[in-house]
Amino acid sequence: MILKDKNIILGVTGAISAYKSLEITRLLVKEDARVFPVMTGSAREFITPLSLSTLARCRVFNDLFEHDMESRISHIELAEKADLVIIAPATANFIGKLSAGLADDLLSTIILATRAPVVVAPSMNSRMYENPVVSENIKRLKGLGFNFVGPEYGELACGYEGKGRLADVEDIVEAARECLSKKDFLGEKVLVTAGPTREAIDPVRFVSNASSGRMGYAIARACKRRGAEVVLVSGPSYLTPPKDVTFVKVQSAEEMADVAIRYYPQSTVVIMAAAIADYRPIKAHPAKVKKDSKFLTVEMERTMDILKEMGEKKKGRFLVGFALETEEMEENAKRKLREKNLDLVIANSPGGLDSEVNQVIIIDRYDNVEFLPPLKKDEVAEKILDRIIAMKK
Ligand code: CTP
Repeated sequence: MILKDKNIILGVTGAISAYKSLEITRLLVKEDARVFPVMTGSAREFITPLSLSTLARCRVFNDLFEHDMESRISHIELAEKADLVIIAPATANFIGKLSAGLADDLLSTIILATRAPVVVAPSMNSRMYENPVVSENIKRLKGLGFNFVGPEYGELACGYEGKGRLADVEDIVEAARECLSKKDFLGEKVLVTAGPTREAIDPVRFVSNASSGRMGYAIARACKRRGAEVVLVSGPSYLTPPKDVTFVKVQSAEEMADVAIRYYPQSTVVIMAAAIADYRPIKAHPAKVKKDSKFLTVEMERTMDILKEMGEKKKGRFLVGFALETEEMEENAKRKLREKNLDLVIANSPGGLDSEVNQVIIIDRYDNVEFLPPLKKDEVAEKILDRIIAMKK
């Protein structure tokens, strides 16, 4: 969505991780971006232009002085048409060139000539990365508005272990989305909850539900992209937490309540996407329950309704709840909106629980009802944020 029809110049320089630029290209094309690959001479030692051009569905540009009459396009034209430039991987040498303002090849010339934002994903040996000259170059470029993503700590191709690995390809694409995203959540402090909770029966068994956390994580990412400060409180989930958000992992409904209520006073917007247990075993057995009787009864008690508590102390905050319904979706969701004093409620069915896709109904406190088609959770998240902003205006 955010990258759709955007002109993205993907600069590839000569590092062993150059092969990952193929995956970055694939991810960008999957989101309908138009990728214009530009390779430096040393990048061509690591991967072939043919692989990159095949995935990008576009020829590779690599020579400042090339005059290909068929598809002639100058560095200035490329620089002008770009909505974004990504350099992945960016070597220490290329970062040095950028920092010094040199323009001795096609890629560095484009970067000097463009007005588009630039994402730089460094990749190098950890000793090189720690070198004060490289640190100073990166600091200078950051100060000038270049957007850095990574590098990360890990095993390096040269046999070292340290900081210098190219950032995860998904993180590089997310940095691209963030650069091109509107910033209408600047100044907002958003508290998001996600995932299921686990209520212990004994040390190895628990009561839980099928929530994956995907919807809440997608909302947290979207808020961050759009400029908010984000706190994500998550029940058990296998998902990777979004970068640059305050992330708190919890297990039970009680822990979720403690953390959410701690962050509540400082929040301007709260989005409760977590599937929090309504009941928990009154007593968790200290030792594993043995199967020595025919029946087992687990007595349960109510947990705190966190969102209802928040609704009672709402003041100027904007509260968004989810309503998971198997029947009478709209009516039940509207009732929850009123009972919990919400501004928006997102009604969905269990079908969306452990899926990439969700079909929701957005209902606001003025009874406006919007039925959305099945959409990827990232898209649902953007729609929810659009509604929040429209109502806050
Ligand atoms: N919620 C909460 N605390 C709970 C249970 C739910 O804050 N103990 C929040 C959820 O995060 C969600 C909203 O309340 O945003 C509605 O949750 P849902 O499970 O759909 O409804 P309940 O209020 O629990 O009502 P019921 O289970 O009876 O449908």
